Amino acid sequence: MKVILYMAITPNGLIAKPDDDTGFVSDLEWRGFLKMMEKAGNNVMGRRTFEVSLKDGRFPYNVLNVVMTHKKLKNKWGDKVIFTAASPKKVVKMLEKQGFKIALVGGGRLDASFIKAGLVDELILDVEPTVFGKGINLFEGQDFNARLKLIGTKKLSKNEIQLHYKVLKR
Ligand SMILES: NC(=O)c1ccc[n+]([C@@H]2O[C@H](COP(=O)([O-])OP(=O)(O)OC[C@H]3O[C@@H](n4cnc5c(N)ncnc54)[C@H](OP(=O)(O)O)[C@@H]3O)[C@@H](O)[C@H]2O)c1
Repeated sequence: MKVILYMAITPNGLIAKPDDDTGFVSDLEWRGFLKMMEKAGNNVMGRRTFEVSLKDGRFPYNVLNVVMTHKKLKNKWGDKVIFTAASPKKVVKMLEKQGFKIALVGGGRLDASFIKAGLVDELILDVEPTVFGKGINLFEGQDFNARLKLIGTKKLSKNEIQLHYKVLKR
C-alpha cells in the first residue's frame, strides 16, 4: 500500500496563484496526472481543491473521490464521492481496506497534514517552467521535516521535468 502525492509545481514550490489560478500547468502534465489517478482508482483532496475542481468542471473524476472537510457538504454524486472529516490516518486505513494505492492530489493544506502525520510514501512532482512570487505552497500551514530519497527523474518535455522521491520513514 502506497500513498503517492502527485502535484504540479513551479521551480519555487508553488502549486497555484493566490486566486487559485493553475494555468501554468500544461495539458501534458494534466494527462499524466489523470493517468496516475485512474491507475490508483481514487483520489484524496482537500475541500478547497474540491471547490476549484468543481468550478472548473473537472469534478468528480472518474475514480473514487475522497474529499476531506470539516464542513457538512451535500453529496450529489452518490458513491463516487465521499466527504469525510476523518483523520488522514483513518482515511488511509479506509482506502487500504479496498486494496487501493492512494493518490493524494492536494492542495497544500491537505498535503501538509498527510506528510506531517508520516503518511506519504512517495512524491511525484512535475516541475513546470514558470515562476511567480506569491501563491499556494506545495505544503501549507504546518511545520514538519521529512527526508527524501530521489528515486527517479523523467524529462516530460523540452521544458518539464518530473521528480520522483521516496519519503524516508522516521
Ligand atoms: N498544482 C497542482 O498540482 C494542484 C493540485 C491540487 C490543488 N491545487 C491548488 O491548490 C489550491 C488549494 O490548496 P489549499 O491548500 O488552499 O487547500 P486544500 O488543501 O485543497 O483544502 C484545504 C481544506 O481541506 C480540508 N482539510 C485539509 N486537511 C484536512 C484534514 N487533515 N482533515 C480534514 N480536513 C482537511 C479543510 O477543509 P474545511 O475547511 O472544509 O474543514 C481545509 O480547509 C487550489 O488553488 C488548487 O487549484 C494545485
